[in-house]
Amino acid sequence: MMSVSLTNKNILLGIGGGIAAYKSADLVRRLKERGCDVRVVMSQSAMEFITPLTLQALSGHPVASSLLDPAAEAAMGHIELARWADLVIIAPATANLLARLTAGMADELITTACLATEAPIALCPAMNQQMYRNAATQANLACLAERGYTLWGPANGSQACGEIGPGRMLEPLDIAIMAEQFFSQSATPAVAAPNPTVAAPNDDTSAKPLLGQAVLITAGPTREAIDPVRYISNHSSGKMGFALATAAAQLGAAVTLVSGPVNLPTPEGVTRIDVESAQEMLDAVLEHVDKKHIFIGCAAVADYRVQAPASSKIKKATEEMQLALVRNPDILATVAHLPHRPFTVGFAAETHDVEAYARDKLKRKNLDMIAANDVSVAGLGFNADTNALRVFWPQGNQEFPATDKLTLARQLLSLIVKEKQKT
Ligand code: PMT
Repeated sequence: MMSVSLTNKNILLGIGGGIAAYKSADLVRRLKERGCDVRVVMSQSAMEFITPLTLQALSGHPVASSLLDPAAEAAMGHIELARWADLVIIAPATANLLARLTAGMADELITTACLATEAPIALCPAMNQQMYRNAATQANLACLAERGYTLWGPANGSQACGEIGPGRMLEPLDIAIMAEQFFSQSATPAVAAPNPTVAAPNDDTSAKPLLGQAVLITAGPTREAIDPVRYISNHSSGKMGFALATAAAQLGAAVTLVSGPVNLPTPEGVTRIDVESAQEMLDAVLEHVDKKHIFIGCAAVADYRVQAPASSKIKKATEEMQLALVRNPDILATVAHLPHRPFTVGFAAETHDVEAYARDKLKRKNLDMIAANDVSVAGLGFNADTNALRVFWPQGNQEFPATDKLTLARQLLSLIVKEKQKT
């Protein structure tokens, strides 16, 4: 069935000069079948990998590549093109292109369009794994994420150069689905509803390693009441936990998501339970943890609650006031100490000494695995579309560099599947 969730959207696709450029032809098709209008700009080097004629035929529009082409400028000038877009997708975003975007260069049409547009820009990195891991590329990605660029991918796997690692461009279908999710999330009403338009990526081809597995995930912040109108909370948006729920469902799991107050749609096929406080989250987790195979505690649970919340609004009667706080129960540690516990994965949000604190939580809370994020890095972690993880478990550790949260969720779940099989 054809999805029309990108109807009336204008997508400007920028194609960089890498071997993954051949996939961009399919991307145009995947986007267009979702109802949007697609225009293509190509870097000069992209034309060494794929011809403008192919992309013109698929998009139905002339392909722009030069800033200095009077005919193209007369048809739709570069500023007009930048204004026309509701979303810019750069796929593949090569290491060279990322460096030029970071430097703010306007040396050809593709980089100029990125500078001139007010539309959000999603980057789909694609390059050799060592080039991706290089400190310069990582710094460029972190800088671009901090400036508001969205990162989609890259994926891990075998590369055109014969190496294996992170740096593969996401599959065109996955990118098209992320575009759908992007618009459905920006248009999300405060009350979350199931989102039937988002299909599982690679439904037609991918393996489902979590088939038959029941997964329980916590997400978002908790709110601890001070009085009927005020509360203590934190900056968690729920995006990381919802990405895990989305990815787990796409990989075949039966997913239950216990969420604090967030403004996100319920991922397709996921059972969602909304809670407010840490105590409510614990109650919901204990009610649903039975027969679960995997538990992932991604919520930012308030460590303390107000000892005696006021039953009516507190009035400003004094210059100073003191709130007595008491410790909240530890949901993750409670699950990890159950007699028939699931494979239990925690998160650690740290601002310094990340490894030491994460390893301490792994041991102290009796976990099978912990995913640590450095929440002091701008553009990553709390309330961002992008994150990076350092994962520790008793027998090993693995780093996942900065990328969008859905890609990261898939990477973490693959690792969980692999390590759980050994237990
Ligand atoms: O929601 P986003 O905006 O996408 O941001 C994602 C995130 C930064 C919130 C997420 O990646 C993350 O790090 N979640 C854990 C945040 C946290 O509370 O970390 P912590 O180090 O304080 O807690 C360690 C672990 O114990 C966590 O798994 C937490 O869920 C759990 N915990 C903590 C306290 C408590 N009372 N009960 C718990 O279960």
